[in-house]
Amino acid sequence: MLKHAVRRNMETSPWETRRLDSPPPQQSSRRLVQKQGPAKRGDFEKAPGAYTLHWLCIGGMRGIKCMISETSLLDPMEGIRYRGRTLQECMDQLPKAPGSKIGLPEASFWLLLTDEIPTDAEVKALNEELHKRSALPADVVKLIDSIPKDTHPMTQLAMGLLALQPTSEFGKAYRSGTLKKSEYWQVTLEDALSLVAKVPILAARIFCNVFKDGKHIPSDPSLDWAGNYANMLGVNDSDKFKDITRLYLMLHADHEAGNVSAHTTHLVGSALSDSYYSFAAGVCGLAGPLHGLANQECLRWLKNTHATLKGQEPTVELLTDFAKETLASGKVIPGFGHGVLRNTDPRYTIQRQFVQENFPDDPLAKLAEVCFQAIPPVLEATGKVKNPWPNVDALSGTCMQHYGLDQEDYYTVVFAVSRALGCTSNLVWSRLMGLPIERPKSVTLDWLSKNVK
Ligand SMILES: CC(C)(COP(=O)(O)OP(=O)(O)OC[C@H]1O[C@@H](n2cnc3c(N)ncnc32)[C@H](O)[C@@H]1OP(=O)(O)O)[C@@H](O)C(=O)NCCC(=O)NCCS
Repeated sequence: MLKHAVRRNMETSPWETRRLDSPPPQQSSRRLVQKQGPAKRGDFEKAPGAYTLHWLCIGGMRGIKCMISETSLLDPMEGIRYRGRTLQECMDQLPKAPGSKIGLPEASFWLLLTDEIPTDAEVKALNEELHKRSALPADVVKLIDSIPKDTHPMTQLAMGLLALQPTSEFGKAYRSGTLKKSEYWQVTLEDALSLVAKVPILAARIFCNVFKDGKHIPSDPSLDWAGNYANMLGVNDSDKFKDITRLYLMLHADHEAGNVSAHTTHLVGSALSDSYYSFAAGVCGLAGPLHGLANQECLRWLKNTHATLKGQEPTVELLTDFAKETLASGKVIPGFGHGVLRNTDPRYTIQRQFVQENFPDDPLAKLAEVCFQAIPPVLEATGKVKNPWPNVDALSGTCMQHYGLDQEDYYTVVFAVSRALGCTSNLVWSRLMGLPIERPKSVTLDWLSKNVK
């Protein structure tokens, strides 16, 4: 069913994906570039901070339009849209688990892949398919169980994904020598489904090995993808914990393709490395403190601030002082700022609504609420922070700890389970579009000094 839906979307797409086998290779992608024309200098001059060639080379490629991703688009003010739908629209429109108000993340996987909101029956069928594919091979289980417990859970996740690589259908089919370019996407979709099916099982195994003395809870095929993951963690068997996990996984699934984890997955995939190699690389990028690890850092910062307050009620004045101290010590304030967003992250706003409805009196939630008022003015006063507003990480850890998942070293793994949805969907679409291997041009500092006046 899913394959048909992807094909339907491909056939109505403006991209000429059907000609992948016609010579010359990548003809369709070249044609699109010619049609739209390359980014013009004026594009950059309109943006804040007047771009120059110098800036383009050393500015972390900010704002340069040089990638294509069909699955989602990030608007600096409105935030992410999955296939044109805001996150609130996704929450409203996506199928839900019985009794829940949260759009199911596996339904967002369907949406990202197909540009269609799946029916309840389609999500049920997708969940059955994912359950069928979810078992980890015995050698992968053996490897994961043998990793020293003090190895960071993100390192373990990357190792587990690489251990799964020999199961790649794309890898096998490519080696067979008979795979046509027009068929790449189909085997990549097979890998996407299997990877998405296995990643919560792998992630839960890592959690229970590290934090639960290796006591594992078996996968429950009667539960949805995210509800089952929440259940296997064994920290809280309430419906609310399943709901916050569904919400977390739905909100983090995709954030267009330029962020570190998505871009890394795409870059490695552009060499025709399979989904396991590519996403394992993306997971390593997600482990960076300026990217996915910020949620762990943010909860640490909040817990630390809470402990320092020693029972005092948090106030804007106190939090302003804490924020200034953090900046003075040369650290960033985690959970605030963004490379693209210039407004409060709607993922933060949706989580905040969940907090207000369910646990407004949680001490860390109250602290996070005061941070929302205190920190933006402090960051604004530096004169250099382009977005002083909170991002998703400012609350995601707070939500998880409320239900007992307070092992912050594990938070980025939950993020990675979610990001598997977007990253693997993007790989399918990269194959559908026949995108070429990425190879930007680098220059030396000497070249820059000679060529940029
Ligand atoms: C997300 C982030 C990496 C974006 O970086 P960016 O695109 O370079 O952001 P800006 O252009 O606004 O950065 C300009 C300056 O402000 C600083 N800045 C940005 N956000 C900051 C924050 N939350 N705390 C302190 N300083 C910050 C940057 O470090 C940079 O300083 P520098 O010129 O001395 O190197 C950055 O905002 C950050 O480090 N935030 C905290 C970590 C975080 O929450 N990450 C998760 C993002 S979803």
